[in-house]
Amino acid sequence: MKVYVPLDSAARALGADAVAVAIRAEADRHGIDVTIVRNGSRGMVWLEPLVEVDRGDGRAAYGPVTAADVPALLDGTLKGHGRVEDIPFFARQTRLTFQRCGLVDPTDLDDYAAHGGLAGLRRAAAMSGPEIVAEVTASGLRGRGGAGFPTGIKWKTVQQAAADRKYIVCNADEGDSGTFADRMLMEGDPFSLIEGMAIAGLGVGATRGYVYIRSEYPVAIAVMREAVAVARRRGVLGPDVVGSGRAFDMEVRVGAGAYVCGEETSLLNSLEGKRGTVRAKPPLPALEGFLGCPTVVNNVISLATVPVIFEKGAAHYEAFGLGRSRGTVTLQIAGNVKRGGLFETAFGMTLGEAVEEIAGGTASGRPVKAVQVGGPLGAYMPRDRFDTPLGYEDFDAAGGLIGHAGLVVFDDTADMLKLARFAMEFCAVESCGKCTPCRIGAVRGVETIDRIAAGDPRAAALLTDLCETMKDGSLCALGGFTPYPVMSALTHFPADFATMKEAAE
Ligand SMILES: Cc1cc2nc3c(=O)[nH]c(=O)nc-3n(C[C@H](O)[C@H](O)[C@H](O)COP(=O)(O)O)c2cc1C
Ligand code: SF4
Repeated sequence: MKVYVPLDSAARALGADAVAVAIRAEADRHGIDVTIVRNGSRGMVWLEPLVEVDRGDGRAAYGPVTAADVPALLDGTLKGHGRVEDIPFFARQTRLTFQRCGLVDPTDLDDYAAHGGLAGLRRAAAMSGPEIVAEVTASGLRGRGGAGFPTGIKWKTVQQAAADRKYIVCNADEGDSGTFADRMLMEGDPFSLIEGMAIAGLGVGATRGYVYIRSEYPVAIAVMREAVAVARRRGVLGPDVVGSGRAFDMEVRVGAGAYVCGEETSLLNSLEGKRGTVRAKPPLPALEGFLGCPTVVNNVISLATVPVIFEKGAAHYEAFGLGRSRGTVTLQIAGNVKRGGLFETAFGMTLGEAVEEIAGGTASGRPVKAVQVGGPLGAYMPRDRFDTPLGYEDFDAAGGLIGHAGLVVFDDTADMLKLARFAMEFCAVESCGKCTPCRIGAVRGVETIDRIAAGDPRAAALLTDLCETMKDGSLCALGGFTPYPVMSALTHFPADFATMKEAAE
């Protein structure tokens, strides 16, 4: 009997380790031959720890499982969910980037290859650098870290830059509130990121890569380090990548904990051992990045999507999506919801479908008031924007942004003034201090919102003015986008800014 118990951080936080220990003990007590595989998460966090049991006739899912459930789990009397693939939340997905996450043993390279892994890299290894970049461009892939910049164009810039050394840097800082796709992918299918980085290296002519992981992700760090060692031992990394005659190697680096270190130039400073402050652009990191050399900086999901593009072909990937948003988006559903977790779907699903149908509405049973999409710099979307399809341009037109695709749901008890204040406070705390609109503006923002709360009738206009200044004058998106949550709260929920309403009357 093979039993899959996730090693994923969310599953562990919900008791997966205790369940694994109980399974071992129960199996030993009754002399049952059980192999325990610590897999990644299948993404349905409300069912974690989700345990799968394979008695030789396929995998049956159970969850949430507690240690007390283990005797019934092993003797087959525990009520389960059937196959994971038949659970409606999972069945509705289009899994491309996450096709293997939760299915495979994360650090077993043979298991990875048996599930389609390395096919993309082997194909890329037979292509020239420009051909690889052209394939990524044809897929329509855009950066999943927040800005949605076309990945092919970034790679082409690095590929065409004349330099002795080039680098691939993976941004695994994942600081956005409510997001966990990078972590889940690294914990559950680390080879897909390694493969994507190796393809990027072959494509642009970079021989070295770094994954910059936030220190708050100890499991992801450990799994990635082990997978890198296995990949090196097996010739996926090193002087002769899968027998291509081309070199690429990489290592894991750990951040010290600052939201702004997710901003690419700040990340590069941190990676170089400097203080994590933002660098002015130009020069672009693609031309002068890590140690002044041409550098691809891409998000985990962007890079981990590259193998499937090469495995199935750019046209296959490009066939999914909406407008200029091609392929799939890995939604991370969090906050006050019935069903939270990772949901991969083609761009085009509406926000309302994701919140009401997929997530099942609020856990509290109260009406949804707002959804913050895109992390702490994302807008609060009210219910009357629920018909907005998930697409970069569509969200932009609706006054929002998709960012790293985190959805944090709030019910009607949320106080939008407090949330606007929190956005300013977050910016003040996390500001790198390099430019005045953000460093000083965020502090003034908190004070101004407090004046609104205290009943100052002129403060709302001041806040609007301040947001304009931060938007136009900040050096990076921390100061530049904080106005999104603040202004969306102010615009869509004026009743929560009572003095504003009174002033208008
Ligand atoms: C304040 C701030 C924080 C950011 N945090 C992250 C992050 O945690 N992860 C990430 O991939 N991108 C983050 N970004 C975006 C990066 O600067 C950059 O656009 C991204 O890593 C590029 O990769 P992509 O093209 O694959 O998205 C952040 C940007 C800003 C302004
Ligand atoms: S906007 Fe804020 S975080 Fe960005 S460079 Fe300016 S001070 Fe630093």
